[in-house]
Amino acid sequence: MKTIKTISDMREARRDILDSVGLVPTMGYLHEGHLELVRSSRRENKYTVVSIFVNPTQFGPAEDFDRYPRDYPRDLALLEREKTDLVFIPSPDEIYQADYNTWVEVKKVTDRLEGAIRPGHFRGVTTIVSKLFNIIKPSRAYFGQKDAQQCVVIQKMIRDLNIDLEMVVVPTVRESDGLAMSSRNVYLSAEERKQAPILYKALSTAHVMWSEGERDSQRLRQAMTEIIQQNSSGKIDYISVASKLTLDEIEEAHPPAIISLAVKFGNTRLIDNIIFE
Ligand code: PAJ
Repeated sequence: MKTIKTISDMREARRDILDSVGLVPTMGYLHEGHLELVRSSRRENKYTVVSIFVNPTQFGPAEDFDRYPRDYPRDLALLEREKTDLVFIPSPDEIYQADYNTWVEVKKVTDRLEGAIRPGHFRGVTTIVSKLFNIIKPSRAYFGQKDAQQCVVIQKMIRDLNIDLEMVVVPTVRESDGLAMSSRNVYLSAEERKQAPILYKALSTAHVMWSEGERDSQRLRQAMTEIIQQNSSGKIDYISVASKLTLDEIEEAHPPAIISLAVKFGNTRLIDNIIFE
């Protein structure tokens, strides 16, 4: 496994690869969710590149950029075990020069849900992902369904800017109790960790109701709200029933629909979603 820190070395390495390249962009502190993306890329491409970069521009001023968990030696060991071909791990200065001034911004679909609560977040995501696409020139790029809005936003950017690659979305990997894996789960106290699977329980209950014919978004939201409020100390940021394609809120949950939610446990915000197809 090769580890590369600079853009010029990355470009040089890329020039020698004539086969298909899969890219898995990450912010590190890797878990099984990330590794599932790596495995998907390994199955579908000759060559797999993983980027590790805690991207400062997607964090708000009051957010957790400084304390975002980092453990590069552990990440590299995990990636080595997955037979990753190359890890691109640049410094912030390498990616954002002092006079950096260019932004990629997708409108509309970024103004709601995570975008409404984290202004500027998706502008940071689409900017770094565009830069990684330009530096690494992948044939395919792998993203997790866990970050449902991120997937919709990046897919829109790829289409709008005619970026020549295939985006692959990988299903959410969960702990055995249903909690979606996330680098931020380490922030949870023991008691919060015990309560956190309530997000998936609420989503699963909504899915059962939907399977039995319930389409009324208001009733689905109400049932999830009650489950979370009655069984945990979590504070609900939003519960959304939306079209999976546009993320426009819908009154009737006709497929393909997505229910997504964000719940705060202390200072830790957890997000999760389930798709109705
Ligand atoms: P990060 O949170 O490190 O996640 C990297 C990728 O792993 C994302 O595509 C995310 O959706 C996916 N992922 C995270 N948890 C997952 C889970 N439990 N199951 C499946 N996939 C999961 O998302 C980012 O980094 C950044 O915004 C990034 C795209 C790298 C841009 O900076």
